[in-house]
Amino acid sequence: MIDGKKVLFSGMQATGNLTLGNYLGALKNWLTLSDEYECFYSVVDEHSITVRQDPAELRRRARNLLTLYIAAGLDPKKNCIYYQSHVSAHAELAWILNCYTYMGELNRMTQFKDKAAKHADNINAGLFTYPVLMAADILLYQADVVPVGIDQMQHLELTRNLAERFNNIYGNVFTVPEAYIGKVGAKIASLQDPSKKMSKSDENVNGSIYLMDDPDTIMRKCKRAVTDCEAHICYRDEQPGLKNLINIYSACTGKTPEETVLEFEGRGYGEFKIAVGEAVISVLKPLQDEFARLSKDKAYIDSIIKENAEKANYYANKTLRKVQKKVGFPERIR
Ligand code: TYM
Repeated sequence: MIDGKKVLFSGMQATGNLTLGNYLGALKNWLTLSDEYECFYSVVDEHSITVRQDPAELRRRARNLLTLYIAAGLDPKKNCIYYQSHVSAHAELAWILNCYTYMGELNRMTQFKDKAAKHADNINAGLFTYPVLMAADILLYQADVVPVGIDQMQHLELTRNLAERFNNIYGNVFTVPEAYIGKVGAKIASLQDPSKKMSKSDENVNGSIYLMDDPDTIMRKCKRAVTDCEAHICYRDEQPGLKNLINIYSACTGKTPEETVLEFEGRGYGEFKIAVGEAVISVLKPLQDEFARLSKDKAYIDSIIKENAEKANYYANKTLRKVQKKVGFPERIR
């Protein structure tokens, strides 16, 4: 609790171009929850270097991501929007938690297996212990709730297990967090292969709608989305491409999938795909315009970075000091 409010933590990696999946699965829910909670939204740049990055490019992407959080509508005076690398407590707590995490637990992480297969020439220890850093991110702020897409559920389960393990040994140190998964949009699939998630790193650029895609590109990608030959608008697993488009449309318009099906009953896929394109454009266009405006205001963004790093450090260090004491590190002499 901070000032009587429950705490929310979430973050995104500044790697690759953000997709509509990131927006509908995470960022959109951040906006609806931000009044109710005391919120920390991190640009998790330390996570990004588990895969090789070009330094200048990483810095540029991280700043763009931080700007995008604000452009999406998160007020940086109320929400703590900051770079993970500006708060050294993340790495320090991650080290401590590493010593309470079993190799077997990390071996089971499907995202590690996927990434290790993709980057077979660089299976580094950071990639393996990545979920422990993620647990540290969340536990440092004593977060009650963590809004994420379904792909992060396994990492969140590990976080809960670590918090409980630590609490069992040392008493009530960490809040055990709950995941918040949105009703629609928690698992947006590729437009070209609905069995895969829409991903920043997909080689087929037509599978993903990027947040910075222009309206023509968005419409073209929606029109080309893979569907089926049933020619009947239904929301069911047997029509995964169509189901995905219904999810996208519903998440963008705030309708339920059932309402969407009723709206388009008896109409052709072509017509529906155009409506999906229009719904996506109506969500992304204002975001892009605000991003362009904010990006020019260097002094404003710099001031947010400075102020919020101070705030994040304050809360993170409070938890870190408590943990250091519990595990037996000597007291600091002032
Ligand atoms: P990342 O950067 O891959 O994704 C950011 C958020 O977007 C969600 N997401 C999706 N949701 C629905 N459909 C999709 N196709 C889709 N693709 C991505 C993700 O679930 C995530 O919520 N490890 C995290 C970053 C992280 C973090 C944290 C998150 C680090 N520390 C602490 C929460 C709390 C990651 O790589 O997300």
